Amino acid sequence: MAKIPVQFRLNGSDRAAFVDAPETLLNTLRRGLGDFSPKYGCGQGTCGVCTVLVDSEPQLSCLTLAVACEGRHVETAAGLADGPDLHPLQAAFMDHFAAQCGFCTPGMLTAARALLAKNPSPSRDEVIEAIAGNICRCTGYEPIVAAILAAASAPGQRRA
Ligand code: FES
Ligand code: FES
Repeated sequence: MAKIPVQFRLNGSDRAAFVDAPETLLNTLRRGLGDFSPKYGCGQGTCGVCTVLVDSEPQLSCLTLAVACEGRHVETAAGLADGPDLHPLQAAFMDHFAAQCGFCTPGMLTAARALLAKNPSPSRDEVIEAIAGNICRCTGYEPIVAAILAAASAPGQRRA
């Protein structure tokens, strides 16, 4: 099958890949472009560990075709930190012990980033709703919710 060229911005950089027509964005990010921050969990849209932003909207990259991202801006958890400076969400996750095994963490951070970009002062219920599609087997969710609320009130949260 002939490969299809696709180009998009990834965390602010122009990237290109040759993909198969049915190839998922998750596969392209991980295998083609070396961004392993979005995780492969269920592969069928139920766990949220593959969550990325496409034009600032959370998308499950395991259900998103890579070719559908032509010309768009894809953001992953790998693009959150500014060099050695953690994003306020990352710092808050550390401060609140919101990651245990860490497998859900990139998806949680990405979902939270989208929330804070639209709603800088979310309520607890709004945080819970924003991460409702992201499954965590370890934390019981409470530290994650606390971390997102803390990041929302952090001085640097505008970067969210
Ligand atoms: S791997 Fe995409 S939702 Fe589970
Ligand atoms: S920290 Fe292990 S799945 Fe969330």
